[in-house]
Amino acid sequence: GGGDRDTLIGAHELSVKLYHYLLMNTTHGQPALQYLRSRGVTDKQIDHYMIGYAPPEWDTLARFLEKREYNLALMEKGGLLIAKQDRSGYIDRFRDRIMFPIWSRDGKVIAMAGRMLGEGQPKYLNSPETMLFNKSRNLYNFHYARVSMRKNRRVVLFEGYMDVIKAWSAGVENGVASMGTALTDEHASLLGRNADEAVLCYDGDNAGQAAALKSIPILERAGMRVQVAMLPKGMDPDEFIEKHGAQAFMRETIEHPVSATKFRLLYAKKNHILLEEEGQKDYLLEAVGIIAALDSPTEREFYLKELSREFDMSLDSLKQDAFERRQQLQ
Ligand code: UTP
Ligand code: MN
Ligand code: MN
Ligand code: MN
Ligand code: MN
Repeated sequence: GGGDRDTLIGAHELSVKLYHYLLMNTTHGQPALQYLRSRGVTDKQIDHYMIGYAPPEWDTLARFLEKREYNLALMEKGGLLIAKQDRSGYIDRFRDRIMFPIWSRDGKVIAMAGRMLGEGQPKYLNSPETMLFNKSRNLYNFHYARVSMRKNRRVVLFEGYMDVIKAWSAGVENGVASMGTALTDEHASLLGRNADEAVLCYDGDNAGQAAALKSIPILERAGMRVQVAMLPKGMDPDEFIEKHGAQAFMRETIEHPVSATKFRLLYAKKNHILLEEEGQKDYLLEAVGIIAALDSPTEREFYLKELSREFDMSLDSLKQDAFERRQQLQ
């Protein structure tokens, strides 16, 4: 019931404080702090995002919560602990990991994510779905981003925790992340109620670009105008900021997104060999299909003109093709 929920939230808040303390004030936390610093994470970021460290022992949190008379079975249900195989007790879910609290939309800690200090699998371990935490409804950083989102009617979507955190320092106060799951209609409708424009800033690898392509119609269905901020091949926002700095990130990516249509065209283009006749023709037809699906005649004309210039094709034939494709869509 509501009592269990409140108790679990209280336990999460307390755990976050413990992990944060261990990171900042103990020698056990030193390697984790060192790791964060080596990645350019500042004390300001650590404080704002309440980043912490879960030590390697099996039962640091379990003993901590037990001492405070929490019901450990409930803590297991809430994802903080794991029941031992032989059911003789509980151990910590998160061990030897950098901890990121995950907040609900009203700012309560409802889950956590833990990152390994180096390479390994899984890189991030997240809380499971619980009575508090539903991945398809929650977005990382939404409660912080909301104020700026509502003011500017705009949201920036990232893939990961580090992207949101680094971008925040670069001046992006309206950033959220979907935490490794595909964007859902529920996410989109939450965003659509708070903003009119979404800028996708996903990783510059194939997975990230494919995810961006999939997110576009989901956000459009929620009534949002979608743009895509492009990153150099193989770089994610956090890496871009580390390498080129906050100013370059803002100027070269966030402030110059391409339209959703432009992104679809660029994405389609990548899959064709434009130096070959067949590749060119295939791309042209695919591009016309993308443009034909646009609702606004002005937009259709705009992109068809661009295409006709780029490939030295007559606008009339492209328009005719687009018209026929549109008939098929109805
Ligand atoms: P990435 O693999 O791009 O990680 O996954 P990242 O955010 O760049 O992480 P760093 O910079 O190496 O620390 C993007 C997001 O997918 C989720 C996390 O939310 C991550 O931030 N993810 C990824 C997981 O939940 N588990 C994983 O094992 C990996
Ligand atoms: Mn990735
Ligand atoms: Mn990434
Ligand atoms: Mn990475
Ligand atoms: Mn990264």
